Amino acid sequence: MHNVLIAGASRGIGLGLTRACLERGDKVYAVARNPNGEALAELQRQYPQHLVLIAGDLTASDAAQHIEAALQEPLDILLFNAGIMGPQHQDVAQASADEVATLFLTNAIAPMRLARQLAGRVRAGGVIAFMSSQMGSVALARSAAMPLYGASKAALNSLLQSWDQSAERPQASLLALHPGWVRTAMGGDQADLDVDTSVAGLLATVGAQLDQGGCHFLDYQQQTLPW
Ligand SMILES: NC(=O)c1ccc[n+]([C@@H]2O[C@H](COP(=O)([O-])OP(=O)(O)OC[C@H]3O[C@@H](n4cnc5c(N)ncnc54)[C@H](OP(=O)(O)O)[C@@H]3O)[C@@H](O)[C@H]2O)c1
Repeated sequence: MHNVLIAGASRGIGLGLTRACLERGDKVYAVARNPNGEALAELQRQYPQHLVLIAGDLTASDAAQHIEAALQEPLDILLFNAGIMGPQHQDVAQASADEVATLFLTNAIAPMRLARQLAGRVRAGGVIAFMSSQMGSVALARSAAMPLYGASKAALNSLLQSWDQSAERPQASLLALHPGWVRTAMGGDQADLDVDTSVAGLLATVGAQLDQGGCHFLDYQQQTLPW
């Protein structure tokens, strides 16, 4: 039984992670912009003792305060799942300042800022994980179809590596995760994996890193990806 916080839990992979953690007996803090949606409300009915719903937009400057106020015990796993694709056009030439700011704030700056603010609530040997993407790998160079999204995930990976090398690095394993190509609103109908398959692999990957330390870029099958 672990204490797990999942940031971005309303649907898709985040909802799947929340459900799977509850099914295995974890206590789950689920952060969502709208925690009153039907899916989370149903889980709350099923697991009233084990699910704590927290309303929060992760990009809000006071998000960490709201989250901290709801935490009752140290976390084993702090997982930042929320992400957006950015503008449909994915074109640097067309991108407005607002589109770029929202994309990079949501996918890179906000999760890292929150992680730094909440790191003291993670037990020594815990895991702090970020949902990245193989499209964030500069070495693999697989983001040509979605360059703005890929750049935002590369920025997330870069910030994670910088944190790992800083004096403020927490005593936790730091992970960038690739969930596979998953059938969600973001991944689309043609994606390879259903949510449950990705989630089972992600939780095994995260679980294997408890008490291991280090900073790793791993996919849902525990394979190392190049940065
Ligand atoms: N699906 C794939 O194939 C794939 C592949 C690689 C990486 N990923 C990454 O995996 C993560 C989950 O993707 P998904 O496919 O499950 O996407 P999704 O179905 O579009 O769900 C995105 C989730 O992020 C939440 N979110 C977005 N911005 C937020 C904010 N500012 N504050 C709080 N929550 C916010 C959404 O909440 P709302 O309901 O409030 O909008 C939703 O719960 C993302 O980081 C994505 O980049 C996905």
